[in-house]
Amino acid sequence: MLRSRSNAARKFQIIRNQHHSRGHGTRTACGAGENVHRPACSRHCAILGLVVSRFRDAGTLIVCQVGSVEEGRAAQDAGAQILIAQGVEAGGHVRGTTPLRTLLSELVPLASVPILAAGGMVDGRDLVEMLQLGAQGIVIGTAFIAAPESFAHHYHQQRIVDARADDTILTDIFHINWPIGAFVRVLKNSTVRGVRGDPYGPSRVIGDEQGRPIYLFSTDSPSRIMKGDFEAMALYAGTGIDRIDRIMPAAQRVAQIVDEAVRLLQEGRCGD
Ligand SMILES: Cc1cc2nc3c(=O)[nH]c(=O)nc-3n(C[C@H](O)[C@H](O)[C@H](O)COP(=O)(O)O)c2cc1C
Repeated sequence: MLRSRSNAARKFQIIRNQHHSRGHGTRTACGAGENVHRPACSRHCAILGLVVSRFRDAGTLIVCQVGSVEEGRAAQDAGAQILIAQGVEAGGHVRGTTPLRTLLSELVPLASVPILAAGGMVDGRDLVEMLQLGAQGIVIGTAFIAAPESFAHHYHQQRIVDARADDTILTDIFHINWPIGAFVRVLKNSTVRGVRGDPYGPSRVIGDEQGRPIYLFSTDSPSRIMKGDFEAMALYAGTGIDRIDRIMPAAQRVAQIVDEAVRLLQEGRCGD
């Protein structure tokens, strides 16, 4: 919990986790952190106690993203040292169906490890609100797609800048590469609208990434080195896009978030 505003402001730190797959941006958590210089392993899916203990024995920090209280409990029991509460507002692969604020309010009283908040986080006001709800920081995905450092194609970046929260949708139609029934939040496009035909019909190539075929209905999003029919691809985006109005270097966005949060905390205008 937030003990004092100045203390919270002083403790802002950055955790950077390079996303594990190509074509995606950098996930960054802003908040109060203490273990930021240790190797970290971030997991989304069900985690096994044996795997966790092997990582922990090797000195790796275990961060587990969860979409429900049940997952949070299981992750903690398995040895996770940080939980990421992922709300249904999140871009990309989404674990659960619970709005972030509800999930956080349910997880905070149960958790004995720090919790980071994910899903639609874009600015300093989000950070302050999450700290007040008991999180220790925030995790950002979509906002970093709209950064020059991101590996995302400019087409995807510009669509994020131009779109509104209502333009996003949760769907399991992009299923090639992932287990059936894995939901993602993306921008609505012709594929989601059903114009591209049967998702489970014969595979169709709609792009190329240096010789690697990109299939319609796959989870591949347009990357910098890809060519093809970008409109039909998975254009990952969280509901925070209303407040992403330009492509901005990642460091600048982080500085903006921290500056705004510090200002709000100092002014005592949290939760306005
Ligand atoms: C392009 C993209 C790909 C993602 N892929 C994954 C993934 O493979 N595994 C995962 O645990 N989360 C994935 N996520 C979700 C993030 O871990 C995080 O929960 C989310 O980005 C936070 O919400 P935001 O995008 O609104 O900031 C992805 C997010 C984005 C934007």
